[in-house]
Amino acid sequence: MRVLVVGANGLLGSNVVHTGLRREWDVCGTFHSSKPSFEIPLTQFSLEDTDDFGDILTDYEPDLVVNCAAMTDVDACEHHPAKAQLVNGEAPGELAAHCEAEDVGLVHVSTDYVFDGTTRSPYAESADTNPVQVYGETKLTGERTVVDADSSALIPRLSFVWGIHRGTDDLEGFPAWALDQLRSGETIPLFTDQWVTPTRAGQAAETILDLVEADASGRYHVACTSCVTPYEFGERLAKRSQASESLLSKGSMDDVDRDAARPKYSCLDVTRVGDELGRSQPTLSEDIDAVWNAVD
Ligand SMILES: NC(=O)c1ccc[n+]([C@@H]2O[C@H](COP(=O)([O-])OP(=O)(O)OC[C@H]3O[C@@H](n4cnc5c(N)ncnc54)[C@H](OP(=O)(O)O)[C@@H]3O)[C@@H](O)[C@H]2O)c1
Repeated sequence: MRVLVVGANGLLGSNVVHTGLRREWDVCGTFHSSKPSFEIPLTQFSLEDTDDFGDILTDYEPDLVVNCAAMTDVDACEHHPAKAQLVNGEAPGELAAHCEAEDVGLVHVSTDYVFDGTTRSPYAESADTNPVQVYGETKLTGERTVVDADSSALIPRLSFVWGIHRGTDDLEGFPAWALDQLRSGETIPLFTDQWVTPTRAGQAAETILDLVEADASGRYHVACTSCVTPYEFGERLAKRSQASESLLSKGSMDDVDRDAARPKYSCLDVTRVGDELGRSQPTLSEDIDAVWNAVD
């Protein structure tokens, strides 16, 4: 299997590269602003200019494209909606059209932010979407442009992504910040009124490639099974790192003035992916253990 990872230097992209190499797949990739350290064929590519994508497919002749690239800064999307629409909304459809024309499989990664967060039970893939900020609106457009161009594309939706970046070996996402604060002895204000099912990037990469091997297509929610607040996530990290839980303080999303609105509840129901692969997604504690033990 030859796989082209678009956005190989992102957190998820680096894990897809790592996981593909571990499976002895032939892996190549694209990067945006900085070239990752992987020893694989890499080319610079921007989703703002998809004209080059046909040549990239011709050069690398992949069997599969995994698009992990996106404009992921939720507040920046609010300030630059046209760019967000291009990168997150329209470009994925262009990639899908190229893949369809060349008979190349496509995975396009999406987000829990397609939901508005007004419910209090985990969202299934069939749940109604209603994004509450530009990022979510443009990612939802991306799902639609992809399906319009290539109805067999696989679209995993992730949530609150964290894990080890496989190009730098650094921990990234919420735990990186929380552990830094805990280690420096600073109090961390954490929301008790936001609920998420965090996705560990290494686990998501394994699951996505398992879904590809299972010939799955359509939307799949890929996250852990634990629907937690950032405060509860912080408690588990404090316990695991033997830091004092007294450094955690309870906060509310309403106390923070941010440019983009966030859904209060975006937990994902992961039943479908579990059924497809014949196994359960991990709990958050299992994911934390995996990173601690550097299992994968
Ligand atoms: N992070 C989360 O909490 C989260 C939650 C749900 C879903 N997701 C989705 O998961 C996927 C992977 O996200 P991630 O967490 O791995 O984010 P990430 O670490 O920010 O990676 C995103 C990648 O996209 C690249 N990129 C940005 N603008 C680009 C452009 N115009 N052209 C080409 N590449 C561009 C970035 O490159 P540069 O850094 O060089 O610009 C970066 O390598 C995305 O589809 C995201 O929407 C993320």
